[in-house]
Amino acid sequence: MRIPIIETVGKVGVEVILKGWVNARRDMGKIVFLDLRDRSAVAQIVGVPAEMDEKSLEEIKRVRLEYLVELRGIVQARSEKQKNLEMPTGTIEILVKEIKIISESQAMPFDVSQDTRIISEELRLKYRYLDIRSERLKKNLEMRHKMNQFLRNYLTEKNFWEIETPYITKGTPEGAREFLVPSRLHPGNFYVLPQSPQQFKQLLMVAGVEKYFQIARCFRDEDNRGDRQPEFTQLDMEMSFLEEKDIRSLIEEMTIELVEKVFPHLHISQIPFPVLTYAEAMEKYGNDKPDLRKDKKDKTELAFGWIVDFPLFVKSETDDCLVASHHPFTRPQDSDLELLDTAPEKVKACAYDLALNGFEIAGGSLRIFDHALQKKIFQILGVSEEDINIRFGHILEAFTFGVPPHGGIAFGLDRLIAILQGEENIREVIAFPKTGDARDLMMGAPSTLPEQALKDVHIKSI
Ligand code: AMO
Repeated sequence: MRIPIIETVGKVGVEVILKGWVNARRDMGKIVFLDLRDRSAVAQIVGVPAEMDEKSLEEIKRVRLEYLVELRGIVQARSEKQKNLEMPTGTIEILVKEIKIISESQAMPFDVSQDTRIISEELRLKYRYLDIRSERLKKNLEMRHKMNQFLRNYLTEKNFWEIETPYITKGTPEGAREFLVPSRLHPGNFYVLPQSPQQFKQLLMVAGVEKYFQIARCFRDEDNRGDRQPEFTQLDMEMSFLEEKDIRSLIEEMTIELVEKVFPHLHISQIPFPVLTYAEAMEKYGNDKPDLRKDKKDKTELAFGWIVDFPLFVKSETDDCLVASHHPFTRPQDSDLELLDTAPEKVKACAYDLALNGFEIAGGSLRIFDHALQKKIFQILGVSEEDINIRFGHILEAFTFGVPPHGGIAFGLDRLIAILQGEENIREVIAFPKTGDARDLMMGAPSTLPEQALKDVHIKSI
């Protein structure tokens, strides 16, 4: 039976069957050296003509880079001189007895046996499935999986339920533009893809779920930067009956344990995490996601910091009105409630962000759970009575059925894993990311559609 390459270590003298891709080929006279790669590791394969039958000899001659081969061979110890302690399999090699090509490869567009960061990103994105063969990208995906598994297990132990919420829905007002999905069955009507599960998770609290989480895809049709993607993933959470400090300490403990268990080579510079008010952060660092590292050259340092006491509203960039600084469901601080009528721009929110090494990796808040207060916030935001009913009628109605005090937070998991893996761009930790201008170069999306496909959903292109 085939074994993963990494398991050959410690099996000196044993006959093994391996299947993998050819990472490198070196011909030394009649002896052929191959580096064979599977998901687990790379190992050196030695092809000595005297050890193989005729058929295998023919096959090994034909083998080229990235051919997929199957082989039977004997694990042998490398001589002291040939040991390579930088390779996990560097103490052994496999002497081929039999080899067969399973699948050939045409010449590769770029070398995946090296760090592919030096290759043009357009090319890498077009052949993303090849780029993922490279060690760094594969490791990023593996660590992302381990992070997700840790978070799932952690929250399950803390009595959270993982619940899926819809991906075609009605908009959640969180500032970014929404992706539209035309309805075939309801001409002229549209779904939108959610910017986050915000309203659903609040409604799950009304439903009595008490503790919810989801590793949820979110969609925002906005300009992309290195730390933004049009679709990205949140660890989304919501809890009933907890105060801000309880929520923050749960998140803090989870984050610390994540680093200790899954990323033990990294260290957190300050525990408990420092807490700065928004005003302090702006005054001291000029932004609300300060880089609190003590030594920016230390690649293993993680400097987490909470930013609290955000303003509830900010002035719109386009006109004179106020917009929600987080989202319109955020609860104002009790001590500022009176200011809502007189000086709303001075009202502070029960909102908190978690910053890490200069990036905002999570944001959350306590929510309004009072029907009248929620309505008032919409009014201050300039939403007309009619619009309040059309856009938020369902949530306002829900808030009349016995609503628990609740709050939550969402981590940007792409950003978090990028920082933990020492990557500068979140594209490096997403299996199939979009370019800076939101294209998928591998699939060729977005693309035009046949006229009929548009007709079916009652759309006319102009
Ligand atoms: P917010 O909009 O702050 O809050 O998003 C939470 C976290 O998601 C990440 N993030 C992104 N990551 C990649 N690409 C993007 N385009 C992008 N936009 C946001 C950030 C951010 O901190 N519903 C609320 C959460 C809540 O109140 O519970 C929300 O979505 O790391």
